Order: sequence, then C-alpha cells, then structure tokens
Amino acid sequence: MNQNTVDRVGRMIAGKDKIRVLFVCLGNICRSPAAEGVLRSIVESRGDGDRWVIDSAGTGRWHIGQLPDKRMRVHALRRGLVLDHHCRQVCMSDFDDFDLVVAMDGENEYNLRQMARTIADDEKIVAMADFISMATRYDYIPDPYYEGAEGFELVLDLLENACANLASLAGSQSSR
Ligand code: 4NP
Repeated sequence: MNQNTVDRVGRMIAGKDKIRVLFVCLGNICRSPAAEGVLRSIVESRGDGDRWVIDSAGTGRWHIGQLPDKRMRVHALRRGLVLDHHCRQVCMSDFDDFDLVVAMDGENEYNLRQMARTIADDEKIVAMADFISMATRYDYIPDPYYEGAEGFELVLDLLENACANLASLAGSQSSR
C-alpha cells in the first residue's frame, strides 16, 4: 500500500455520509466495471451500501453502451459478482460528481490528470494499486484484455484486496 495515499484518502472519506467513487480504466469493459462490482459487493456485505455511490468509466470510447467483456463477467460470476454496468466514457463532470477517481494503471492516471481542470480535480485522482496490500509484483492493475483466464483471475484478486482496503478507510457504519 502507499501509506501517503491511504492516509490522504482516509482523511477524505472517513465519516462522510456519502462516498462517491469512480473507477477508471481504458475500455471500461474489464477492470473498472469489475472494480465497481467488487467494491459494491464488499460495502453491501458490510451493511454500508447506502453510503456509497460507485460507478466506472473508460478513457477510450470503443465499447460505449456495451456490457463488460464476457470473459470478465464469467470470472466475476464465479465469485458471486454480477457485472451489469454499461460502458461509458469518462467526462469532465465526473470530477464534480465524484469524490475519488481511481485509475487502474499509469496510463489511465496520466489521461485523467490531463483532464483535471483544477488542483481540486487533480487531488481526487488516485492509483488503485496504492490500496493493494497483498504480495504481488504489480504496482498497477494489469490490462487483461489480451490475456488468458489467469489475467482475469489476477485482476479480480488484486481488485478484491484493494477494494477491501479502500472500503475499510471509510470506517464502519456502526462507528459513525
Ligand atoms: P479495460 O480493458 O481497460 O480493463 O476495460 C480493455 C478493454 C478493451 C480494450 C483495451 C483494454 N480495447 O482496446 O478495446
């Protein structure tokens, strides 16, 4: 984990009534809709679902309107996650509508920082990998699009770990 990011995001979201998180990848059909499904499942299982607004978007526009990639839906479903997001492209107003804009890899993060209009926008952008605590050689969420089944499983493992850590920063409902 990146302790600086964890501390900063903790200060941003702990105790907030509503926490609005947007996950961003390239295509918005593999990693970010999976992150959306994973975090939603975690916060709902903690009885904290009403507190979170969770969405995802892509920097690219190739798949707008589509459901997540079939392979990601199959791998997610094996873990009990139904991914029914419809692909959309990230837009400027996302910086108004979300508290946190979470990039899956360095390219996504770079593109988001190019879009940021203000320092306040820029401060909303964080790297998903900063929340990973499991042992891994990855300091980003690798794009599984051109990979096999292991690529999708790896992404889901990394996302489950990172989302559990992100959810914990909000504190539990009972502690508010
Ligand atoms: P994602 O994966 O960014 O995790 O949704 C990709 C999906 C589609 C493409 C690239 C990456 N594409 O080039 O169409």
